[in-house]
Formats: sequence, structure tokens, C-alpha cells
Amino acid sequence: MTIPAPSLPLSQDALKTLVGQAALHYVEPGSIVGVGTGSTVNKFIDALAGIKDRIRGAVSSSEASTARLRALGIAVLEANDVASLPVYIDGADEIDERGHMVKGGGAALTREKIVAALAERFVCIADESKLVTTLGAFPLPVEVVPMATAHVARRFEALGGQPRLRLAGGVPLVTDNGQHILDVSGLVITDPLAFECEVNQWPGVVTVGVFAHQKAGICLLGTASGVRTLSF
Ligand code: 5RP
Repeated sequence: MTIPAPSLPLSQDALKTLVGQAALHYVEPGSIVGVGTGSTVNKFIDALAGIKDRIRGAVSSSEASTARLRALGIAVLEANDVASLPVYIDGADEIDERGHMVKGGGAALTREKIVAALAERFVCIADESKLVTTLGAFPLPVEVVPMATAHVARRFEALGGQPRLRLAGGVPLVTDNGQHILDVSGLVITDPLAFECEVNQWPGVVTVGVFAHQKAGICLLGTASGVRTLSF
């Protein structure tokens, strides 16, 4: 299904706004909403503020999203206080035709996977540049315990990857969980489920940015001709 876009050619930012607004359709009245992280989700949070009196609140996947939600007057609940969520809405760095994703460009992958695991349905919102045939062109984010970084990097090199420690202001980026991020380029992830299982059991890996077990059920894709809905 495609919801037509306004007729002007739309910028990437406008496509993000379009899918952020379209995601409101999946928010159940009176519910608690799982909220992801990133520039596309920021558009969703802004749209959600318009219906904040019709929801109970949100469970957030990052300090950044929590701050934005609270600034707009949306209650943020702890993940530990919520048994399940009807829907989790988040962006992606890549999504394939089966709903598998690469995520973590915003360094929030661990909490994103936790909140996604609480949700009955994952609705991915993305502009069409994120749709790929095979995952791996976007450098794969992996959250790692700092003392294991070199070891995990060597294991990726053995798979043909080129790992790089993510920096912020010239020093290693520290995630909301106090860990580091490796961005691994050069991977071709043909079996996302098996790849996620394999890397997850390497000592020192907190979370790998392949979302195959917590894949999307729906993707709202912003395209030049409107919002395209993909169901998986
Ligand atoms: C953050 C993420 C984001 O969902 C992903 O990086 C996409 O971000 P954006 O909407 O800014 O392109 O996984 O950790």
C-alpha cells in the first residue's frame, strides 16, 4: 500500500517527517508506546506530542529520546515496569526485504533491542535509502565491553571485516550503558539470523546491531511517491 506524498519533490528530512507522522496510525489509544532513537524517530516523537493526551506514555530506548519525550510532556516509564508493549517504533540504518535490519548508527542498539523485545510489533520508519538487498554496506555497529574491544575486533577481521572504534570528540564514544562501539565495514550478511546468534556469543559483545530476531513486522518507507508500507 502506498499513501501518496504531497506533489513537490521531497527532501530526505521531509520523507522522515512523513513516515514519522504515518507511524501514529500504529499507536493504540490508551497504550504505552515503545520509542526508538534517531533523526527519523525524532519526527515521530514530535508527531506523538500531538496525541500525548491519548496515550499512557512511552518506554524509551535512549537518554536522547527520553529527554525529547519529556521535553514535549510525554511520560517516560521504565522498561522494568512494563511487561509488554503493543508496538515499538524505530528507525534503521538498513532494512532488507524480509524485515531484518542493521541498527545502532545512533549508538542506542542495546536499549533498542531490549525495548523491541518487549513489543508485540516492530514498526520500522525509514526513508527509501535504507532499503537494501543484503545487509552489510552500512558499517555494522557492535556494542562492546571496553576491555574486549581488541579481541572482538580481531574476530571481525577473521571474518573479512574492518572494525573501527567509534570516536566522539577524539575519544572513544561511551554509550548510555557505559560501553564502546565498534563499527565494522566490509561485511556481507547473507544469513542475518545465524550471524546475530554467532556474534552475540562472543565474549565481550554486549549487542550486535543486526536485528534479525527482533526484526520489523512493518516498514513505513518514505519514497518519492509517498509512504510505502512493507509487511513482513
Ligand atoms: C540508533 C538507530 C537509528 O534507528 C538508526 O541509526 C537510524 O537513524 P536515523 O533515523 O537518524 O537515520 O539505530 O541507534
